[in-house]
Amino acid sequence: RAQTRKSLYTLLEKSAEFYREQLKTHANKGRAVNYLKGRGLTGKIAGDYLIGYAPPGWENLLKALGEAEDDKRMLIEGGMLIHQPDQGKLYDRFRERIIFPIRDIRGRVIGFGGRVLDDSKPKYLNSPETPVFHKGKELYGLYEARQAYKEIPRLLVVEGYMDVVSLAQFGICYGVATLGTASGEDHLELAFKYTNEVVFCFDGDEAGRRAARRALEVALPVMTDGRTVQFLFLPDGEDPDTLVRQIGPEKFEKLIASRAIPLEDYLFDAVSTGLDLKRLEHKARLSKLAAPLIYQLPKGVYRELMFQQLAKR
Ligand code: CTP
Ligand code: MN
Ligand code: MN
Ligand code: MN
Ligand code: MN
Repeated sequence: RAQTRKSLYTLLEKSAEFYREQLKTHANKGRAVNYLKGRGLTGKIAGDYLIGYAPPGWENLLKALGEAEDDKRMLIEGGMLIHQPDQGKLYDRFRERIIFPIRDIRGRVIGFGGRVLDDSKPKYLNSPETPVFHKGKELYGLYEARQAYKEIPRLLVVEGYMDVVSLAQFGICYGVATLGTASGEDHLELAFKYTNEVVFCFDGDEAGRRAARRALEVALPVMTDGRTVQFLFLPDGEDPDTLVRQIGPEKFEKLIASRAIPLEDYLFDAVSTGLDLKRLEHKARLSKLAAPLIYQLPKGVYRELMFQQLAKR
């Protein structure tokens, strides 16, 4: 079992190297390089994040790394090859996409995200769950953030690969992303291993606001005293990538400092929408909505203070 994992890690590492190599040598590399340049990324940042290119074709990785039967089996287990035995098909999962390798906290490649170079669908494809890749437990960019700082100042939880990489290119290296899943309790516990300050910063759209509301509920049970969770809501139509490009890193960080909303304020905002708090029955409704959320907090000073706040309101 341990042996199996070791070779799985090795093959995933080799896959990342293969895609890196394609970005430098493939006949179609121009398309990929232009795409990355068009999104404002430098070669340096692409290198830091091991960004690569899966060229068009069904058997590139298969031919490069899947010669031996054992390796073939392992690449299937690692989600790199798709096997449909009934149809006798075996082919590369990632084709004609920009490749974002995902590393665990120790720097081992455990999975991949792949983005199309145009408007085709699906825009992103991710590795499936494998023996070494658990979407609900990993944060893209956390390894790189740890490399960048002696002590990580805070973690900014964003939606996408491009948000993480783009922020890092501007020197904001504390962005992390969940991987095509909503943020869960495990993500947050992982983040709090490396910092006391988490800021959720989702896209300025309906999906982003829904994600924030969900993140609030996920955060409540892990809010032990000393931890802070904040929410930064972006202008409509922006995501961290587009915004940092537009206003630059200094202003972006000022925005975090001045506009991020502490969890307690967001909680009361979220349950107060549509209420007129001068009216008694609306106050009662506020209490009914807020109390169960506050009860989700772990016992401690913070929870007591929240109940006092509720009473005040
Ligand atoms: N995602 C996914 N599958 C999709 C679309 C999105 O897994 N079909 C995940 C990816 O991890 C992606 C994140 O959700 O990075 C955010 O999605 P979205 O905001 O739609 O994309 P962006 O990251 O803004 O993509 P880009 O800027 O590259 O267009
Ligand atoms: Mn496991
Ligand atoms: Mn989005
Ligand atoms: Mn984007
Ligand atoms: Mn986005």
